[in-house]
Amino acid sequence: MEQAMRDFFLFLAKNKTMTKLAKRYGLKFGASRFVAGASLDSSISAIKKLNEKGMPVTIDHLGEFVDNELEAKEMTEHCIDAIKAIAKENVNSQLSLKLTSMGLDISDDLVMANMRKIMQTAQKHNVFVTIDMEDYSRCAKTLDIFKKLKSEFDNISTVIQAYLYRSLDDVKDLNEYQPNLRLVKGAYKESSEVAFPDKTDVDENYKKLIETHLLNGNYTAIATHDDEIINYTKALVEKHSIPMDQFEFQMLYGIKVERQDQLMQEGYKMRIYVPYGNDWYGYFMRRLAERPANVMFVLKGVFGK
Ligand code: FDA
Repeated sequence: MEQAMRDFFLFLAKNKTMTKLAKRYGLKFGASRFVAGASLDSSISAIKKLNEKGMPVTIDHLGEFVDNELEAKEMTEHCIDAIKAIAKENVNSQLSLKLTSMGLDISDDLVMANMRKIMQTAQKHNVFVTIDMEDYSRCAKTLDIFKKLKSEFDNISTVIQAYLYRSLDDVKDLNEYQPNLRLVKGAYKESSEVAFPDKTDVDENYKKLIETHLLNGNYTAIATHDDEIINYTKALVEKHSIPMDQFEFQMLYGIKVERQDQLMQEGYKMRIYVPYGNDWYGYFMRRLAERPANVMFVLKGVFGK
């Protein structure tokens, strides 16, 4: 039953008509629990509050699967504006983005041109950028683009998903770039031809990725709400005396907030991924898929408390 609900929400996440409707009607159905605001301006106070608590953030202007050049240009401008706003507001924030928003599905030249514009602004303002990882069909291309950009700009990282069979090889292959990587379980619906179907295998693979990347001496962001993975990381860094400034934990805005506070109080670096914008639908559906209990929040949003 739980798997069926998960599949249902991941199916809804890709629905283009729903995405368009959602954009028009603003943050609805409890989406504001996971999305800081419909615009950067309205999200700045949430970002500042997290910074004041001692938590750095990474902001993400929501949007994905753009299929025309004009929209990709607009999304690129949004990222550039976000970088400038981070500098102007003097907030402790990085930027996360998705390559499909910058034109990945349109042409290689377009996505590279848009990314170079973003990276030049980011370099100028000393803002770090992470390329989120999307579904498997875009993984190889995303890593190729990351490698190209990484040889031109130092302030860039990307994401590796533990559910993919290929990921341990990717982490080893990327080692020559000594990259800062964000390691996650993976949020898209993938077939058993490319991804571990069982949670226990995903978790085991996640631990291998963390161990490999950290012991290779690279900066590692462990982006999870899973206590078992967090405790595994704590024990690993202690065993190998890995310095506190070689890794950080990351969690999503609005999820396991008490645990976020606790890790920070224990002295760990705890970065919060803060999404904002009116293209919230796909992101929100993936959060519902991760935890069917969240559906109760939606029902309350629709039918009242
Ligand atoms: P898991 O799903 O096993 O959850 C562990 C526990 O955390 C659950 O039992 C529950 O208590 C809590 N929890 C998890 N999700 C919840 C939710 N939605 N609501 C309430 N509680 C929840 N994925 C991707 O494919 N590409 C990417 O670029 C990124 N980027 C990214 C950045 C950051 C900062 C984070 C934290 C996550 C991502 N992800 C991602 C998403 C990631 O792949 C994964 O889908 C989610 O983090 C959920 O997996 P967990 O590791 O938390 O474990």
